Order: sequence, then structure tokens, then C-alpha cells
Amino acid sequence: MSLSPQNAANTPEPTLTEPVTLKTLKAMTHRNEAFACLACYDATTARWLSRAGVPVLLAGDSAAQVMLGFERTIDMPLDFAIQITAAVKRGAPRSLVMADMPFMSYHRSIDEAMGNAGRFMTEGMADVVKLEADETQAGIVDRLTRAGVPVCAHVGCKPQTSSVTGGPVAAGRTANELDQVVRDAIALQDAGAVLLLIEAVPDEVTKQVMEVAQVPVIGIGAGTACDGQILVVNDLIGLTDFPPRFAEPVAAVGDELLRAGKQWVQNVRDGSIGGKRYSMRMGESEKVGRNAENDSGRVSNQS
Ligand code: KIV
Repeated sequence: MSLSPQNAANTPEPTLTEPVTLKTLKAMTHRNEAFACLACYDATTARWLSRAGVPVLLAGDSAAQVMLGFERTIDMPLDFAIQITAAVKRGAPRSLVMADMPFMSYHRSIDEAMGNAGRFMTEGMADVVKLEADETQAGIVDRLTRAGVPVCAHVGCKPQTSSVTGGPVAAGRTANELDQVVRDAIALQDAGAVLLLIEAVPDEVTKQVMEVAQVPVIGIGAGTACDGQILVVNDLIGLTDFPPRFAEPVAAVGDELLRAGKQWVQNVRDGSIGGKRYSMRMGESEKVGRNAENDSGRVSNQS
């Protein structure tokens, strides 16, 4: 297997001709041009998504569920999160890559938050770090920002917190909750967040957040009014058994995998597996006294 794009036959031309920066996203927002974001977790997927022209990729903590099979995002291991962030950036160097800081990697102390965010920026090569936060965490956003770490503040439904209270649920469904989400967005933006991400809220909440937002707002299950939209790539391509209600798959890769897996099982059973055969160097097979054509390569224990 070769991962090098230079060796790949029919490699499509990259669609992103310039590196995507926060400036790019601001300019798109000013032009009212919605930008696409996807959560993905490995270099190969990131490379294909970047070829497709997806400007923003998130190495999301949803990897805990999607990649590692945990029930909750709070089980995301910190070192794994840093590794997948770097993998996504290596696969898509021109996309803006956000790292998702895992549960408890920025809560215990500002020093710990700074140290871990620093690892995402250096080892993980992240362009932005994302934190699920409310107004009480504005201090952390302020310190990270002043240290030069661009922060995306994730408000509304926050799966890291809500998994403790019975799984992700929509936020902002009462007038009080709506006020809270808007207060969180304002406080975190005032503290220096360069992006807001708002998850699973009614349109009324998004509308009010959009009214106060001075930075690009990315939505997931938050209606169409946001500046950008994000989904987990597995939900987009039909790999998720029970996708969230806001996911609108545009491909059926799960069905294709199923078909390919079944085909492989059949090919192996039939003995009709493909692949190029190897032959011995000229004159070598005579030395072992066998015909290379018929040699299965197995060592016989009956001789
Ligand atoms: O981890 C994740 O996938 C997210 C979503 C907002 C896409 O945080």
C-alpha cells in the first residue's frame, strides 16, 4: 500500500489552491458564502476531503465513538486526539484543521489547558483548537487567546457535558436556555474565540447568536442561518447505523463496504483472489527443482 499522492494513479488535482486561514473564512462570511466543514480522523479521508475542496476539517472527539467504539465522546484519549489531528493535517495541509480538546483536558487548571492546547498546536499541527464551553470558561479562552492559540468555542448542545446527563440532547429549547446559549456565545467571543460552533439548537437560538456574532459561526443541527455547516464524515457518507436527525447522508459507503466485504469473502472461498503473482528470478526455480508456476509457497511437512 502506498499513501504517497505522487504514486497514486489518477490522483485528482487539489481543489484548494491556497491554504485556508481564518482570514479566508472571514472573507467567505462577508461574501455570504457558506463554508463546509467535516469531522474526520485520518490522513487518507482528510486527503480526499481536501481534494473535494472542503476548507475546514475537525479532528473531532467523536472519534472516541466512530474510531474507537466507545459510547461517549468523554472517553477520547488525549494522545490519540493529538495523533489524529496531526494525521488530518498531514493528509490535508491546505485545509484549516481544528483539534477537538477532549473532556478534562482543559478543565482542571489554566496551566493544564495551556499545556494541552500547546501540544495540539505543535505535535498536532492544529490551526485552531475547539473547546466545548460556557460563559464560566471565558477565562480559559482568554488565556489561550493571549498565548496565541486560536480558539473555536462550541456552545449549545455540548456532548461532553450532556453525556453525563443522559446523552446529547438539543439545547436552548426554553427561553431561559436560549438566553444562556446567547450569553455563552457572547462571553466566549468577547474572551477572544475566533470561531463559534453551535450544536443542536432551535432556529430561534441560532438567529439570536447570529445577531450578536462578530466571528464566523459554524452550525451542526442549528438550521441554515450559520456561516458554515459541519457534520461527521461517517454520517455524511452513510456509515453510521443511527445517524443524528440533522445528518443528511449523500452517499451509501456502508452499502459499498458491505458489498466489497462480501465479494472478498466469496473470492477467497472460490480461490479466485486477484493480485499479481511473483515469479522467481531467472534460473532460480530450477535450483530448487520445482516449477515456480505451480509452487504454492507452502512448506510441506510430509517430505
Ligand atoms: O467531535 C465532533 O465530531 C464534533 C461535531 C461538532 C462535529 O464536535
